[in-house]
Amino acid sequence: MKQAAPGTDLAPLLLNWYDRHHRDLPWRISPPMAARGMTPDPYRVWLSEVMLQQTTVQAVRAYFALFLDKWPTVTDLARADSEDVMKAWAGLGYYARARNLKKCAEAVAFRHGGRFPDTEDGLKALPGIGDYTAAAIAAIAFGRQSAVLDGNVERVVSRLHVIETPLPAAKPQMRALVAAMTPADRPGDFAQAMMDLGATLCTPKRPACALCPFSARCLARASGEPERFPVRAARREKPIRLGAAFVAIDATGAVLLRKRPESGLLGGMTEVPGTAWTARLDGATGPEAAPFAADWRPHGIVGHVFTHFELRLSVYSADVTTAAGGTANWWEPLATLGRQALPTVMKKAIKQAIPEAFDAPRRGRPAYDDKARTP
Ligand code: ADE
Repeated sequence: MKQAAPGTDLAPLLLNWYDRHHRDLPWRISPPMAARGMTPDPYRVWLSEVMLQQTTVQAVRAYFALFLDKWPTVTDLARADSEDVMKAWAGLGYYARARNLKKCAEAVAFRHGGRFPDTEDGLKALPGIGDYTAAAIAAIAFGRQSAVLDGNVERVVSRLHVIETPLPAAKPQMRALVAAMTPADRPGDFAQAMMDLGATLCTPKRPACALCPFSARCLARASGEPERFPVRAARREKPIRLGAAFVAIDATGAVLLRKRPESGLLGGMTEVPGTAWTARLDGATGPEAAPFAADWRPHGIVGHVFTHFELRLSVYSADVTTAAGGTANWWEPLATLGRQALPTVMKKAIKQAIPEAFDAPRRGRPAYDDKARTP
């Protein structure tokens, strides 16, 4: 017999499961905390949701703690030095998020009296807050009945309803189905429960259907092929770009750094001198492309995947005199390299040339993690 459609009354099943199996996350008011009368802090909800865009829960934990330690309120963050914010963000990737984070904090602190707007539309008017983040904050921080759709939720809903339309075209249909499921009571817990279900049971590979609160209602499970969903449009191969990075080291062991232009990819972040990253595969990436002559030693190639291209960066190092550095650059001692706003690709390049770089994590600072799937 053909299984009936999953229905719109699934929320109680999910909330029951969440009460017993929710993840304890530092930004979350869990059901036991709510029972003790604790309520969400919109600043913490906003900060975590911005950090969690494109980044794993595990990678975000340490950054979230560091930001709250440095800037406990949105007004503290609004008053912070922009450079300090970029430095604290370094390694999380997608650096436009950090610039918008600061602008958004300023808007809330200076134009909204330090209080976040409590509606989806009000939130969407702020810098860096799009559909997903506005819905998530409205539901989690303010108890609005908003439909929250992230990658985990897309997987859950596409399986429940065996949605054959590929992503991203299927998003409006998925959002409508999530909206129909979202309860008026506990919409924030419902959104987070969908995320937890997607992260812990309804996983991309080998979902644990036997443990799932929706198992009896899930059409993908009934089909025997839950892993087939969500269906995705065929991915285009990412184009490759080549470049070279030059790690100059002075007699004290300090490394020559410079700041990238404010706009564009990794805007305002710190880097070692290097060539432009070009799609011309016959472009110069050898030692002749160095900013100044030295005895450049090759260290092979580091790879890094950005949203729109894959970079292959040839890495060189040389021992040079401090005077070689030029005026637009500065020398950073090895011990304090980790405090600079170095994106992950630059940390990889420096580590390739100087394996001991970044080895001693400072207290309270996220350790270097070259597995983070961030630029
Ligand atoms: N991913 C994004 N936001 C999240 C949240 N609030 N809880 C768990 N995972 C998330």
